[in-house]
Amino acid sequence: MAPLGVEVWQAPNGQEALGLLRQGLPHVVLADLHMPLMDGLELTRRLKALDPLLPVILLTADAEREVRLQGIQAGADDFLHKPVDLTELRLRVGGHLERRRLQEKLEDLERALLALVRAVEAKDAYTAGHGERVATYALYAAGELGAGEEELADLRLGALLHDVGKIALPDPILRGGYPLTEAEWRAIREHPVKGDEILKPLRAHPRLRPYVRWHHERLDGSGYPDGLTEVPPLVQAVAAADIYDALTSGRTYRQALRPEEALEALEAEVRQGRLSREVVRAFRSGMARNRFRLT
Ligand SMILES: [Fe+2]
Ligand SMILES: [Fe+2]
Repeated sequence: MAPLGVEVWQAPNGQEALGLLRQGLPHVVLADLHMPLMDGLELTRRLKALDPLLPVILLTADAEREVRLQGIQAGADDFLHKPVDLTELRLRVGGHLERRRLQEKLEDLERALLALVRAVEAKDAYTAGHGERVATYALYAAGELGAGEEELADLRLGALLHDVGKIALPDPILRGGYPLTEAEWRAIREHPVKGDEILKPLRAHPRLRPYVRWHHERLDGSGYPDGLTEVPPLVQAVAAADIYDALTSGRTYRQALRPEEALEALEAEVRQGRLSREVVRAFRSGMARNRFRLT
């Protein structure tokens, strides 16, 4: 049998296994269910608290349903029965390692994209951290709108990346502060479409697309790039957060508004039929509820 090509660390019990983690996190963990000092269930719980995506395979002699349920509850990803069939062990470990590798690749891609966004923002002291702030504010509003956990995760990434298309814009336009020509306006208004194109290779693209492509859409059809008159509430939450952050961040050519003034500006958007009342109300209460988190 060909070796799996992995480095193996061994520990006689859960406690010592945790100690080994000081040297770094493994890619997959095989743990006996019954061990002295700390059993496999407790070890699984602790490992999952450290890294929820770390695959944990529990080895157990008892095939009882009860034990498996406990294992699943603790967060175990897989079970192997003792005595262990070596071929099965290799296949299972190999499968989990492959999944983990794919996951890491996706995480790397996400990190690379976020780095890209930060690089764009860093070109201008006033937009540094814009994506993160927009994500934070939009999440507060989305929480008030009753969004589920998965929707919140997509919204967060979508909000972080909403302006990724600006990477295509020349620096002077990004900094602004001077009257733009018609051609420059056109270039700016293309950033949602450019962002949409940049994210296309991502598996999450269909879920992130609305935030990136439609964050400048307005309910009266005056927005861009598609001139929509219906915009999903969670996308409007990002749009509201985007407006709010732009107004509360100072620019070289204008002063920052105070939070209450920026909220007033959002109410004006509602009166003009550009954002929904429900979304702006959620935005206001989300910001109020979380104001202790905001500096
Ligand atoms: Fe934008
Ligand atoms: Fe923005």
